[in-house]
Amino acid sequence: MKPVIALTKGRLEKQFLAYFESLDFDVEPLLDKGRKLRIETSEFSFFFAKGVDVTTYVENGIADLGVVGGDILIEHKPDVYDLFPLPFGHCRMALATKANYEWPNQKKRIASTFTNITNAYFKEKGESVDIIKLEGSVELAPILGLADAIVDIVETGTTLKENGLVIADEFLHFSARLIANRSTLKVKRQQLVPVIERFKKGVNEE
Ligand code: PRP
Repeated sequence: MKPVIALTKGRLEKQFLAYFESLDFDVEPLLDKGRKLRIETSEFSFFFAKGVDVTTYVENGIADLGVVGGDILIEHKPDVYDLFPLPFGHCRMALATKANYEWPNQKKRIASTFTNITNAYFKEKGESVDIIKLEGSVELAPILGLADAIVDIVETGTTLKENGLVIADEFLHFSARLIANRSTLKVKRQQLVPVIERFKKGVNEE
């Protein structure tokens, strides 16, 4: 059986393909996948899922390996081997507000998808805040008055800029990471180690 690799849909997808191609892997079947969620290449079985679900599939041994943003690992702490950083998907975690925003005197309301990261950030500052969980487009929250600020990932900064938000603080930097199921890595060692080494080669050459 071919190794099974879970890939994060969306932003990381294109960057992964470019990286994969640079390592001389067969990417042809992945380039024109349309809406298909599972793709077979000559060497691997791939499937595409949301980042947090990639970790669930890897944790449960459905996928041997996974490519996921470091933000997801910090937020959800899945029980997987976090092998190494990959040379793409570079982002940072930021606290952002409307430009020239005057913070209220009462408890701040912070909207985020990353509630654990937000909680840890404010705990370290010794500040008690109300955290509002959103599933996406969190930039809307300060604009519409749901929150005073957001904690979210920033890659190019375009989304903040185009929505009139500015960074108040930056506190975590991360990239995409290669993860593996803990027991599969032992059981399928012979098959997986050469693949992992090949991924690593690209990292070392960066
Ligand atoms: C992420 C993040 C920001 C945006 C930042 O959202 O939540 O909205 O990317 O990227 P930028 O700095 O390059 O503009 P994503 O596109 O992953 O979708 P989401 O809103 O569904 O989380």
